[in-house]
Amino acid sequence: MFDLIIIGGGPAGYVAAERGGHNGLNVLLIEKAKMGGVCLNEGCIPTKTLLYSAKTFENALHGDKYGVYGDNIRFDYGKMVARKNKIVRKLVAGVEIKMKQNNVTVVKGEAYIQQRNQDGFVVNCGDETYVGSDLLICTGSEAFVPSIPGLAEAGDIILTNREILEMKEQPQSLVIIGGGVIGMEFASLYNSLGSKVTVVEMLPEILGNNDAEISAMLRDIYTKKGIEFNLNAKVVKIDGQQVTFEKDGENFTVEGEKILVSVGRRAVTTGFGLENLKVELFKGGIKVDEKMQTNVPGVFAAGDVTGFSLLAHTASREGEVVVNNLTGRNDVMRYNAIPGVVYTNPEVAAVGETEESAQAKGIAFKVAKLSMAYAGRFVAENEGGTGLCKILIGENNGKVIGVHMIGNPSSEMIYGACIAIEQEMTLAEMEKIVFPHPTVSEIFKETLFAF
Ligand code: NAI
Repeated sequence: MFDLIIIGGGPAGYVAAERGGHNGLNVLLIEKAKMGGVCLNEGCIPTKTLLYSAKTFENALHGDKYGVYGDNIRFDYGKMVARKNKIVRKLVAGVEIKMKQNNVTVVKGEAYIQQRNQDGFVVNCGDETYVGSDLLICTGSEAFVPSIPGLAEAGDIILTNREILEMKEQPQSLVIIGGGVIGMEFASLYNSLGSKVTVVEMLPEILGNNDAEISAMLRDIYTKKGIEFNLNAKVVKIDGQQVTFEKDGENFTVEGEKILVSVGRRAVTTGFGLENLKVELFKGGIKVDEKMQTNVPGVFAAGDVTGFSLLAHTASREGEVVVNNLTGRNDVMRYNAIPGVVYTNPEVAAVGETEESAQAKGIAFKVAKLSMAYAGRFVAENEGGTGLCKILIGENNGKVIGVHMIGNPSSEMIYGACIAIEQEMTLAEMEKIVFPHPTVSEIFKETLFAF
């Protein structure tokens, strides 16, 4: 008998297991594949590893801007992939060690929820049956592959985030359907390595809900680097390596050795007996309240399976909320200060309201923006680089409600803005914070003074 059975060992499940075990719960975690889930095995970590190799190559190639010269600068794609695999193995092993350190029982196999009986939730895995007082569903999401005519017939020309990471050789040309986060990160990777990249995006701009001005800046940068963008372009047909899209009533065809489909992900809610508990769904994900509790008492859900905020760091926090409540610490999930990062080069990072979302919600705000060139460190380290910091302040209360950045290393700076928003700090309070000099993060402070 376990206190908590967790199904799925991704960032929601393994963090909940670790924290639960640490706080004295008797936890069982069931995982059918490798520990770490999509993020660790076929998402966040492998992509960032490959992107770092690509960035290193690009920096070496353009070292002359910094007075550094090298002959015959080249890369070995196979070695990049081998290193990526090594990093993933190492981190998966790290998660397994954490499970042991926190007394979590890990079972490898497919979990199937049988029923709830007088003892608790009954879950099968292989020939074994387990019972838990509480149940946490962390089954994640999978790539959504739309039913475009010809897509199924195109066979291994078609890739999702999973297959593209397994390629042994770099495609010389790549068509990317969907200019969202996954699309843009792979566009950046293969553009840096010299592949011809074509993006086909249905909406008028890449990166959907991001700040529109910053998305357009990123698109401009990559257009100059050679990526072809087709916006307002709806894919109507795939014929082998050819992708036909409709734009302004006309059909156009682009071609790629491989075609990446990155048009969103869907929560995994079937195949593991969820229906046996009559758990309610909402917009394709498991419906939860602010404590990640489903409609069935004792059944919780965290991570992508809620279909809400498909990010690893959201998932981990949601898992923490569940365990905190189970161990007597009242906690609720808030989504207003969840950062979003796009690991392109330059990086894009954001938290809180955009100008567009604030307008749509009728929130009165003031906005200030400043080129990153106002931070000396940015100028020193980004020869000819583009960067912008934009801050939104509530008109009525002076509180920071949104921060948007493009420029390196935005991914490492955005958490400062998350603290400001989570703690509901005002402009006046933020202005008293001392930032280290010289750092690119000073752009945050400089932008505050631009109000
Ligand atoms: P997404 O929702 O970010 O972007 C999908 C894009 O495809 C949208 O711009 C949409 O308009 C477009 N699209 C949809 N159907 C289309 C069609 N038929 N033809 C052309 N364009 C079409 O989804 P994505 O990029 O697949 O990522 C999935 C999830 O994974 C996201 O929620 C994202 O947040 C998460 N993720 C996060 C990362 C990060 O935080 N750095 C990295 C990778 C993924």
